[in-house]
Amino acid sequence: MCGIVGQISNEKFVITDTVNALKRLEYRGYDSVGVATMEGDIYKDIGHISPFMAMLPLVATNAAICHTRWATHGKVTKENAHPHASFDGSIFLVHNGIIENHKELKKKLSISGIEFVSKTDTEVIAHYIAYEIQSGLSIVDAIRSFMGVAQGTFAVLLLHKEEQRIYAFKRDSPLVLGILDDGFIVASDIYAFSDKSPKAVFFDDDEYAIISPDSYEFFSAKGPIQKQVTEVTWTGTVEKDASFEHYMIKEIHEQPAAARRLLASLEGEQSKNMNELATIARSIDRILFVAAGTSYHASLIGVYILNSIGVEAHTLIASEFHNYMLADEHALVIAISQSGETMDVVKAVKHARSKGAKVASIVNVPHSTIQRLSDFSIEILAGQEICVASTKTYTNQVIALLRLAQLMGFETDLSTIPDDISKVIESSEAYVMELARTMKDTHDIYIIGRGISYPVSREVALKLKEISYIHAEGMMGGELKHGTIALIEEGVIVFAFIQGPDYDMLSNIEEVEVRGANVIMIADNPNFSPDFLLSLGTMSAFPIAATIIGQLFSYYIAKEKGLPIDKPRNLAKSVTVK
Ligand code: G6P
Repeated sequence: MCGIVGQISNEKFVITDTVNALKRLEYRGYDSVGVATMEGDIYKDIGHISPFMAMLPLVATNAAICHTRWATHGKVTKENAHPHASFDGSIFLVHNGIIENHKELKKKLSISGIEFVSKTDTEVIAHYIAYEIQSGLSIVDAIRSFMGVAQGTFAVLLLHKEEQRIYAFKRDSPLVLGILDDGFIVASDIYAFSDKSPKAVFFDDDEYAIISPDSYEFFSAKGPIQKQVTEVTWTGTVEKDASFEHYMIKEIHEQPAAARRLLASLEGEQSKNMNELATIARSIDRILFVAAGTSYHASLIGVYILNSIGVEAHTLIASEFHNYMLADEHALVIAISQSGETMDVVKAVKHARSKGAKVASIVNVPHSTIQRLSDFSIEILAGQEICVASTKTYTNQVIALLRLAQLMGFETDLSTIPDDISKVIESSEAYVMELARTMKDTHDIYIIGRGISYPVSREVALKLKEISYIHAEGMMGGELKHGTIALIEEGVIVFAFIQGPDYDMLSNIEEVEVRGANVIMIADNPNFSPDFLLSLGTMSAFPIAATIIGQLFSYYIAKEKGLPIDKPRNLAKSVTVK
């Protein structure tokens, strides 16, 4: 969350170029936006990037930094928008992360008479570094001094007024340098320059770099270091397709193609990796998944399938992993993350490694932090997902897990999944649209499932919350009677996901119907006469196909309500704070 971009070149460029690169990171946050030039011009405002760009003057420069914010410290105001300047106007910077000891540092600087103009944790960085320079340190030593006292997470891009250089430094928050034909882009992730160059240099923790128009130098605490240049390959395209009004619906429709691409790769270039992962998984005592949000729901499906073939597997939401999960040398930790950058997952992976666990990952973004921290990594090849809510990446995460389970003895045919997905979208979209029209004023939806449908209920609830702003609870069918049933009254909507001949679910449906609930049943068993009958070539497609019905509901309800579907309020796609 928060996206940062810096651009430097011998040829002058207009600052809208830099902000255009930032636009490619807007999914990291969109509360406010700002840009600063090496000459010290700063422009910033609250809101999204496009309206900001429309009012930006055509200023040309040789070095600029910019920022799109997901607010943590300080409300969404112009003062709190980045870039932030030092008290003497010599330093301008943008920051992604949280300076945890900012209050302490602020207190010390305030005693020296420095006044703060924002309520952010970030402003302290600019003042601290400028103060150290005024006290006699070089700019590099002032940055090193800051890195020595700072607690928390940071990726910072800094301009020193009139100097044609970008200073970049980081701990835990991601940062990558893109090598262009003329100059460099340094940014939170590779998508900022994926349209310009495949050449990237990834920062590791506690490194800093000095970037000039012709060259760059990297340093660790011990001195200069050599960094490897990585050639990044891209999957899929991100062009807006005029036939789709939003990225979300485009990405829902991309699922058959994305699934096909992944299946081919798991049988082809990624088969060696996948086999190695299965071999390790067989040789250890237990598998521990760790993930957040949608990826967590995919991991629940992994647990269900692996347990069904006698493989001990558990999962936990990443932020509590260190408290509730025993990671040791007998465990294989599999981190699942679309972005590969979710801070809670990064922290859990670092914790697991420190306890001796082997770490594998299933990610969408190549070269992401989580991939780089893993002993093995599987790429799900869904292509860039722009909508903040995950759709196609969930499907491909589930496919990767199904393939792993298959290699470990789970009997299934995965080849029919892409066609199953196509059929489900074709056969259900119009009916979902019709029902969604009647649901636009709905406040609460309860979603139940058992077995492999339980993760589906959780994922569909998440989609309804994220996109349609409906209070939705996804739960185990068996758990409903232990409290939540008190909330069922005349007219409440309940979605019931049923895989196979699950008569217990039918009982749960009866229990809510007699209390006045309107039940929408999604099932693969024609004998149950569901509202949505999923006719699938394989049972393995069920958690994917059933979830797609939920994705479509959340999309069409949100559309009826006129909500900002691709960028829902308060959310960010890449959550790089704890
Ligand atoms: C955020 C997003 C969710 C996403 C979660 C995990 O909370 O809003 O949609 O599922 O992060 O993201 P990851 O990139 O780790 O899969």
